[in-house]
Amino acid sequence: MAHAVDPARTDAVILVGGQGTRLRPLTLSAPKPMLPTAGLPFLTHLLSRIADAGITHVVLGTSYKAGVFEDEFGDGSALGLDIEYVFEEEARGTGGGIANVAPKLRYDTALVFNGDVLSGADLGALLASHHEREADLTLHLVRVGDPRAFGCVPTDPDGGVTAFLEKTQDPPTDQINAGCYVFNRAVIDRIPTGRAVSVEREVFPALLADGLKVCGYVDATYWRDMGTPDDFVRGSADLVRGIAPSPALKGHRGEELVHEGASVAPGALLIGGTVVGRGAEIGPGARLDGAVIFDGARIEAGAVIERSIIGFGARIGPRALIRDGVIGDGANIGARCELLRGARVWPGVTIPDGGIRYSTDV
Ligand code: GDD
Ligand code: MG
Repeated sequence: MAHAVDPARTDAVILVGGQGTRLRPLTLSAPKPMLPTAGLPFLTHLLSRIADAGITHVVLGTSYKAGVFEDEFGDGSALGLDIEYVFEEEARGTGGGIANVAPKLRYDTALVFNGDVLSGADLGALLASHHEREADLTLHLVRVGDPRAFGCVPTDPDGGVTAFLEKTQDPPTDQINAGCYVFNRAVIDRIPTGRAVSVEREVFPALLADGLKVCGYVDATYWRDMGTPDDFVRGSADLVRGIAPSPALKGHRGEELVHEGASVAPGALLIGGTVVGRGAEIGPGARLDGAVIFDGARIEAGAVIERSIIGFGARIGPRALIRDGVIGDGANIGARCELLRGARVWPGVTIPDGGIRYSTDV
């Protein structure tokens, strides 16, 4: 019999590498895993779920800006965790990132996370499933509408993984890799070291070919990869509304989340899981629907912000409309401008009053 999987004797590994493939180049200065999400650095939500599951030892494997993470989370004690950091001189890929943290691992089981996923999976149940099935590796799987952008993972009727097809144009199933794995320590030691390795394209197919026991754990809890601005905005709103669970938010649930030091003028409407950062100012008659307003931003009277990110200290002029956009830190958008459908304004850029319109001029 295998030993019971005890959360306190399980390592957590979080991969925060590269700049990510989908949100590049960044219009916002903070690294993605640190972008304020419902008012907290994004990774805080994952770290609080890890702590909540009874896991204490966390290793963050990063290939860039390691100091930013350490400055924010330190030794992890504020979150009830013991966090260590491993830095890759050059990006080693997802497999290399896992192999690289091996010297820091303390236990026989490691829960490995892609650092850009917002998820509600029950980590205790995932570990229990791995243990009960005596698997070498268990993959958390979810079903999505369009599996082509993900790792497609077909399973047999017993939940055994039969193939791993990363970003294939013709996926045989809508079941995908959710970016969270339970590894037996011995399996991590099989990953090649000293070079870049993709866990999805190289390690998983090799383990299947070698006949290791790779199991799928499928659930239907909340799940979203936060790699695109659109997903980031929706994920943030879902946290504010309590649809995406995060112990770090301590039960907050509502149409809006306004942080201390922010001012919201009477007559401003905040709905759809809008979050307003510290010191931000929202003018009278402004309408914010699913908006992410970073610290110190100013939204003038009558402006409309829908499903968009407004960067640190940016200003949106009176009666401007921003829909599905990203406005970089410190940018200044003039009165009555209209920015729609994925528009992205670089930090510090100024657009004069009425400088961009989509609707008919009157
Ligand atoms: N340490 C380290 N080093 N981490 C890395 C590196 C690296 O070189 N490259 C990527 N990462 C981290 C990213 O920061 C991210 O947290 C995670 O590994 C996955 O990388 P992404 O670039 O976000 O990959 P993806 O979203 O296209 O695909 C992955 O995630 C999907 C689920 O969201 C794959 O694992 C897919 O199979 C999966 O379906
Ligand atoms: Mg991703």
